Amino acid sequence: MKDALELLKWQLELGVDENVGNIPLNRFSDHSQPNEVEIEIPVSTQQKMPKIRSAIDEAESRAKQSQTLGQLKASLENYEFCDLKKGSRNLVFSSGDPDAEVMIIGEAPGREEDIQGAPFVGRAGRLLDKMLKSIGLTRDKDKLNDSLINTAYICNVIPWRPPHNRDPNTDEIEMMLPFLKRHISLIEPKIIVALGNISCRALIGQTGITKLRGNWFDFDKIPLMPMCHPAYLLRNNFAKKDAWSDLLKIKSKLEDMS
Ligand code: URA
Repeated sequence: MKDALELLKWQLELGVDENVGNIPLNRFSDHSQPNEVEIEIPVSTQQKMPKIRSAIDEAESRAKQSQTLGQLKASLENYEFCDLKKGSRNLVFSSGDPDAEVMIIGEAPGREEDIQGAPFVGRAGRLLDKMLKSIGLTRDKDKLNDSLINTAYICNVIPWRPPHNRDPNTDEIEMMLPFLKRHISLIEPKIIVALGNISCRALIGQTGITKLRGNWFDFDKIPLMPMCHPAYLLRNNFAKKDAWSDLLKIKSKLEDMS
């Protein structure tokens, strides 16, 4: 008993703070037998837990097989490996013009989007529409006129609403990434706008949106501009000035490219 207590103290000193291992252990088994389950699992994407690994593999293979937007949407509709799907009402695939030069990528649907099955239809979406309009962009092709001269296409990293609007976790992002990459390659935008940290994490592997915003990055040779999420702008008026400057950079890049 004393030895066991000493061992426990020693483990605490080493920094052990959880009494569970990486893999389930049958504590009712015959302990006189050598225990084959006690192996250290190095944490890396290669050695992801088999369930997550196979969910990502499945996503990669389905995304690769999707040759059109319709097929990609159907692939997502039939993908049963992401638990977020179970708690949501609708798949939120995209809105806007598939021929658009600008592709806007948000984080995940909220309540309104989940109900309507379309991205950015709530308060943040209304602000996003105003922001786009200010540089002559619209997601509605029929509204093109003298001042709205280009279209935009909008989707999210995650197509299902996370419970209580929580941030999607790493596994959920990794599962959806093959679909998102395929989505981008089917749209072939000239410019990508990544809204908020989740989108930047998924596309350029970085977070810290207030530092990233306003700078150009590359995603598969496509210029990518990180911007603060409109939901953040709704809460932080002072950040709108920076957002305006980012929008002007997008506008002038588009002009340079045409
Ligand atoms: N926020 C997002 O990131 N996406 C939406 O579709 C709505 C709100």
